[in-house]
Amino acid sequence: MFHSAPEKTKVVTAVVIGAGCRGSGYASYALCDRHPFKVIGVAEPRDDFRNKFVDKCKIPKENIFKDWKDAAQKEKFADCVIICTQDKLHKEPAVAFAKLKYHILLEKPMAPTEDECMEIVKTCKSEGVLLQVCHVLRYSPWAMKIKEIIDSGRIGDVVNIQHLEPPKGAASRCLDCPSSIERVCPYSAKKVYLEKLSNGHKGWPLSILHSSPDIENITELLKTGPYGKCVYDCDNDVMSNQVVNMQFKNGATANMTMIAFTEAICDRKVTVFGTKGELQCHGAGHSLVLYDFTRGDHDRIDTTAKMMKGLTGHGGADFYCIDSFVEAVVQNDPEKIRTGPDETLYSNMLVFAAEKARKENKVVSMAPDGTFT
Ligand SMILES: NC(=O)c1ccc[n+]([C@@H]2O[C@H](COP(=O)([O-])OP(=O)(O)OC[C@H]3O[C@@H](n4cnc5c(N)ncnc54)[C@H](O)[C@@H]3O)[C@@H](O)[C@H]2O)c1
Repeated sequence: MFHSAPEKTKVVTAVVIGAGCRGSGYASYALCDRHPFKVIGVAEPRDDFRNKFVDKCKIPKENIFKDWKDAAQKEKFADCVIICTQDKLHKEPAVAFAKLKYHILLEKPMAPTEDECMEIVKTCKSEGVLLQVCHVLRYSPWAMKIKEIIDSGRIGDVVNIQHLEPPKGAASRCLDCPSSIERVCPYSAKKVYLEKLSNGHKGWPLSILHSSPDIENITELLKTGPYGKCVYDCDNDVMSNQVVNMQFKNGATANMTMIAFTEAICDRKVTVFGTKGELQCHGAGHSLVLYDFTRGDHDRIDTTAKMMKGLTGHGGADFYCIDSFVEAVVQNDPEKIRTGPDETLYSNMLVFAAEKARKENKVVSMAPDGTFT
């Protein structure tokens, strides 16, 4: 049971502790056409900020304080308190006002130490007062909608697929699966391969299974080979999603997120944050966008790739890859190669290090020669 819920039509009254940036912002709620709400008290040591706030909210004299402690000396005179002091000054007023039975809106972070955080929570619970911490973005319409959509199941489970059990009644091979289950499974091999084939498509991914795909040979391969196995019930131990976090010697950090199930296939999105600008790539076929912090504007940089027949893979990069190699051979120039022995060895060692970190659940350090511990 929470202490004293005001009636719906009653004006909710509040005291603001710290009338700086955040505190004066929340006071504007009184101007919104929502629930009746009035700020009737303030504690703020800076005269100019306090006076401005008092004028804005028309605070009665007896409820104007220079320090939160003075406000907490008084008996409870409002429904709630809005605590917007600096981080180190959250715990003391939060605990004091909870004990006075004020409901609390507390700026984030709750407090700078674990002990202080725990004390705030313990006190608010034992006093039966509401506590809301201003993790504001969790209240934004987009964040609330994301949660609603995830909770509704519309995008399925947000997990690594290896953690999922096959649906009840599913067969271990798609072609043997009851149609009621197969029809609604996005990973049905029947859909991925046979339906595409019956629509006249013979390229990727069918061309991976057979050099001349037709209904007979693809059906046979799905009946017997690995591509016909149920994704939820197979021996594939490759992660369906993974995040690798890296930190370099100069303090730069990078994270790589790999997701197997996406609308775009084989696409990469890259963002690089520098000290003077931000560079974004939304995948093949898009321009790069460079935002310059000094100028405050965007440059769109065209990266349209040549699409050479037979070499259109990876958004056209297949062509550039072999083109570099042939160029290097022609000119006998290793500089033309961007992925030669040393770079490639290091990249591969990085992958082994990431796998060690994942499997052993630990941070792995790499030396310049690619060895790691
Ligand atoms: N939720 C968010 O998105 C968000 C964003 C920015 C800041 N914050 C947090 O909000 C809090 C306030 O930040 P801010 O930017 O408004 O700071 P601010 O410095 O503008 O405001 C803090 C106010 O507290 C006053 N104060 C100091 N001692 C006091 C006392 N004894 N009694 C009463 N008031 C006192 C200061 O004079 C100041 O006006 C911080 O904890 C900050 O980390 C949260």
